[in-house]
Amino acid sequence: MEVVIVDGPAEAGALAAARIAELVAAKPSAVLGVATGSSPLETYRSLAARRDAGLDLSRVSAFALDEYVGIRHDHPESYHAVIEREAVRPLGLDPSRVHVPDGLAADLDAECEDYEARIAAAGGVDLQLLGIGANGHIGFNEPSSSLSSRTRVKTLAPATREDNARFFDSADEVPVHCLTQGLGTILDARRALLVAQGESKARAIAEIVEGPVSARWPGSVLQLHRRATIVVDEAAASQLELSDYYRHTVEHRRIVQPGV
Ligand code: GLP
Repeated sequence: MEVVIVDGPAEAGALAAARIAELVAAKPSAVLGVATGSSPLETYRSLAARRDAGLDLSRVSAFALDEYVGIRHDHPESYHAVIEREAVRPLGLDPSRVHVPDGLAADLDAECEDYEARIAAAGGVDLQLLGIGANGHIGFNEPSSSLSSRTRVKTLAPATREDNARFFDSADEVPVHCLTQGLGTILDARRALLVAQGESKARAIAEIVEGPVSARWPGSVLQLHRRATIVVDEAAASQLELSDYYRHTVEHRRIVQPGV
């Protein structure tokens, strides 16, 4: 696991965007795993600025991590709408190459299976962008999620519904169920890039980076990933015991790999 500590949210977004831009430069038809929530917003902003400067993302395919069950796609907080507003339009993605699980499907299990098949048909995800919930969830894989789970229906933890109530008119409006890529699905991505900012994520970051691999803190599954990078600002890094070592490794890597 590579841990990079940066000053603040803007720097975290810039670094994540640089990694994505590097991938797209090498592979213009890359398959990107996209995330919702506030964590990746700076990354999208920074990528949009790179697009203004000439980065072409029109051949990139994108797969969202998750979607609520039962809210219309045109509801402003459906992940269909969020991905369209925060990623597809500002980045100039081709909507026909962008996929979000359908939480309105008549047969949700079949939709989950089909979503896995669509990812496989696209050649798998090259880089999965991730945020993290305060309880350690990635995607909507709540604590106790199987570490090898695939895309499926999940019940949101009450804490997650409370966290996400800020996006809805009332807490009751937050859906109870969702579809989410599984932890096994996320592990299959060729690279994983998790961004976290702020004090509220400090415990989760310490648990997933330095704690045991455990379904109690689902993001800890990234310790099993071959190329996982965690980009955190100072506040989100504040409970890491080995932060001096992570800074040291980044400094020293620059000597052998100046572009990193
Ligand atoms: C949401 C999403 C996750 C996201 C997390 C954190 O509910 N399903 O993909 O990483 O919770 O959200 P935020 O980045 O707004 O803190």
